Amino acid sequence: MPKIPAGVRGAVITGWGSALPPKVLTNHDLEQMFDTSDEWIVERTGIRERRVGGTTVGLSIESGRRAIEMAGIDPLEIDALVLSTTTPDRAVPASSAAVQHELGLRCGAFDINAACSGFTYGLVVSHGLIAMGSKKVLCIGTDCLSKITDWTDRNTAILFADGSGAIVLESVDHGGGQLLGWDLDADGSAERFLFAEVGGFVQMEGKEVFRRAVRIMVDSATKTLNHAGVSADEIAMVVPHQANIRIIESACAKLGIPMEKAATVLHYTGNTSSASIPLAMNEALDAGRIKHGDLVLLVGFGAGMTAASALLRWGGDEQ
Ligand code: COA
Repeated sequence: MPKIPAGVRGAVITGWGSALPPKVLTNHDLEQMFDTSDEWIVERTGIRERRVGGTTVGLSIESGRRAIEMAGIDPLEIDALVLSTTTPDRAVPASSAAVQHELGLRCGAFDINAACSGFTYGLVVSHGLIAMGSKKVLCIGTDCLSKITDWTDRNTAILFADGSGAIVLESVDHGGGQLLGWDLDADGSAERFLFAEVGGFVQMEGKEVFRRAVRIMVDSATKTLNHAGVSADEIAMVVPHQANIRIIESACAKLGIPMEKAATVLHYTGNTSSASIPLAMNEALDAGRIKHGDLVLLVGFGAGMTAASALLRWGGDEQ
């Protein structure tokens, strides 16, 4: 994976926002739908409840508006909208087109699909746009996995849910942006373990996905740390993809990062794919768990099988 060239124009996150649909679906609700139990789901996944409903466009507008308001900028100042989603509302056009219009943006807008690694892919792509001259980029991760989940299949229905998280990235002139290292990966040969046909439901071989997930998260995070010349014990906060608490525990143990440093929201959000990392990061920010100068490691994995990681120095590397 390429290193960030010296002197390239960087960026910092100046606003963030989250959105979850109002409808709560608990494990006890699922007990009424198929043969499962709250105890089993909590023990095997860490998930207690999840939010379902809404649309990719609707949730993206909500989280995006919050991020823009927090950044305190005029929507017209935004140069680009990058929306990561695996569950667009329409085949054509991209969901980002409707989001761009509703938020009052006048800029290029496009969707990217890298499954649950999508937000981190989007973050890296957004930094690329900043390096090429964009000044303010809105980067959103949204998924409505409930639309592609078979609610009679206990193998998948215990995991997936809906949500959205957004950030505003603004360029910095002093050259010291927040992104210190990144890695994007994919292995299409593993596609058969996690996929949905167009118009179909998610099919998954859970055990195989679990095994690979831990390995590719650790690989990707290690590459990013090595590129940045940072050791795991310097990390103040890790924001992992929120798929299963046991995957997070296992990956953190292998990386040598204590669980107290992990941001987790999956107990009440479930796996929201593209939204999972920004939802967890935004909650940690709102709770004051991330301070200026902290090293924050985002690391995700997903269908494809994709993996992505990014190391941020919160607030940027002031020079
Ligand atoms: N409720 C109750 N029992 C269940 C169950 C459910 N929802 N699903 C499976 N079981 C049972 C199985 O039938 C099996 O019973 P048996 O031992 O009598 O045969 C037992 O529980 C163990 O099943 P198994 O499939 O081995 O469970 P697991 O520990 O692998 O957990 C997952 C299943 C799906 C939770 C786990 O494999 C996982 O999280 N994988 C990763 C999935 C993922 O992250 N996907 C998204 C990637 S972005």
